[in-house]
Amino acid sequence: SAAEKGGYDAFMLKEIAEQPRAVADTLLGRIGADGRLHLDEMHITDEQLREIDKIIIIACGTSYHAGMIAKYAIEHWAGVPCEVEFASEFRYRDPILTKSTLVIAISQSGESMDTLMAVRHAREQKARVLCICNVNGSTMPRECDGVLYTHAGPEVGVAATKTFLTQLVAVYLIALYIAQVRGTKWGDEVFAMVQLLGSMPEKVEKVLETMEPVRELARSLADEKSVLFLGRHVGFPVALEGALKLKELAYMHAEGFAAGELKHGPIALIEDGLPVIVVVPPRARDVLHDKIVSNIQEIRARGARTIVIAEEGDDSVAPYADTLIEVPAVPTLLQPLVTTIPLQVFSCELATAKGHDVDQPRNLAKSVTVE
Ligand code: G6P
Repeated sequence: SAAEKGGYDAFMLKEIAEQPRAVADTLLGRIGADGRLHLDEMHITDEQLREIDKIIIIACGTSYHAGMIAKYAIEHWAGVPCEVEFASEFRYRDPILTKSTLVIAISQSGESMDTLMAVRHAREQKARVLCICNVNGSTMPRECDGVLYTHAGPEVGVAATKTFLTQLVAVYLIALYIAQVRGTKWGDEVFAMVQLLGSMPEKVEKVLETMEPVRELARSLADEKSVLFLGRHVGFPVALEGALKLKELAYMHAEGFAAGELKHGPIALIEDGLPVIVVVPPRARDVLHDKIVSNIQEIRARGARTIVIAEEGDDSVAPYADTLIEVPAVPTLLQPLVTTIPLQVFSCELATAKGHDVDQPRNLAKSVTVE
């Protein structure tokens, strides 16, 4: 009903708007007054955490994209080798798991059968299994050794929005917590990042306030056949997530690529007028940043219509952007918290312009409880 949607036309719109609050709720009570993290709910002692020699992340759909970002965060801050895999693939190969492997399942619902079966497989191999979950008391938290709840509140829209942003917060918390316990060379950076996480709800709010041009853009592209998404580093999973949202909601061909792979194939797809959305890393990451700027030039020279998501004040991309979408400046690893939002708004508005029900896309279920 309209009341349940809190005055919005769709649950998805409401859930996108709730993201500043949701992100704040994921952080709530987890950062001490001394700036140190407290994640006792993970049910893992400092000693056990120091013995971990490999982390494997398993998830599906949007949660898998959060897992890809987790890998960058965990390997950088915590210095522990980390793999990420689709839950549906995991147990059908022969994954190497020992007592010192930490498996982290990411699942909004806690009920996805693919992820649940992967959790059971990992537990049978004696690995320690944690989950990141949004639904209290669902199956995965009950079967895992520990759980970090995202506290995003119920999500009704089939396409994940606020639960994705809060999964990101949860993976940052875990990565920074492991770094804190193990005492890596990034001590000062870890401390600074924890402080910065506290300011993310404001940044998310700021992005939401500037979305009108993105909605206009989406409406203008409603008749396109295909949209490509490019990113590098953590911008790559963001590109994949942008493409997934557009497929799910607008039933449109959409593909995400690692920008560095462009020259190895995807550039052949570029033709006159093809919309390409590019996620640009912060200017501070000069090498990565400059490489993606040259990718933008290359595709534009071949006729692509470039839609560029970049940090505010990034003058170097403006000359090559047919549309420039600015987001607040944040460190590279945290950037998905701000760059994902325009992509959510874009797919939601485009699908609405096509007359689709964004809360109940055809053929999809909120939680897939069959393998
Ligand atoms: C379904 C939903 C997706 C979701 C995926 C994983 O496919 O339509 O939005 O990302 O399941 O769900 P989970 O609850 O495990 O995160």
